[in-house]
Amino acid sequence: MLEQEPVDAELQKIDDYIQRANHTLSNSDIIPLLQHIQEIYGYLPRVALEFVSKRIHVPVSRIYGVATFYSQFSFVPRGRYTVKVCVGTACHVRGADKINTKLEEVLGIKNGETTPDYNFTLKSVGCVGTCALGPIVVVGNSKKSETCCGGPVKPNRNVSLGDKFYGQVTPEKVQEILEPYRGSNNE
Ligand code: FES
Repeated sequence: MLEQEPVDAELQKIDDYIQRANHTLSNSDIIPLLQHIQEIYGYLPRVALEFVSKRIHVPVSRIYGVATFYSQFSFVPRGRYTVKVCVGTACHVRGADKINTKLEEVLGIKNGETTPDYNFTLKSVGCVGTCALGPIVVVGNSKKSETCCGGPVKPNRNVSLGDKFYGQVTPEKVQEILEPYRGSNNE
């Protein structure tokens, strides 16, 4: 039986999600639950994780353990879109550093930072599984339909369902890649 106590609007959405599951969620259900929380807040606030821990009777340390394993999750507020530059070996030898430098220049932030308008967060990730098309940039907000350089890509620990992949990226293509994500018509 779930505890009944007053909660704010965001926590109520999480509670509704858990109630719809209609059972105490198992470990394998934690990832979609965390994704749901991140869609609500844009990141995983501690208050939400503690709330979930109480609701599903899973220690908060275990929830953090799951969340920290997947780079798709953030514990600090981040941009509407996360721009991931692959720095795996194949992309590295094909110029990932130059792509990162250009992204930093265009966005006006350093890797790991978020733009002041909270539209973009830039981060490095390990191999995303499309080495032959490197260097790769992935842009996502976990809501877009999944597309990739000509074919489907399975989400892995570095990317999320809904991320959009850009292959054979050059510094000259960076502006063009980011352009569709500026403004408000991107859902
Ligand atoms: S190293 Fe970048 S996709 Fe594999």
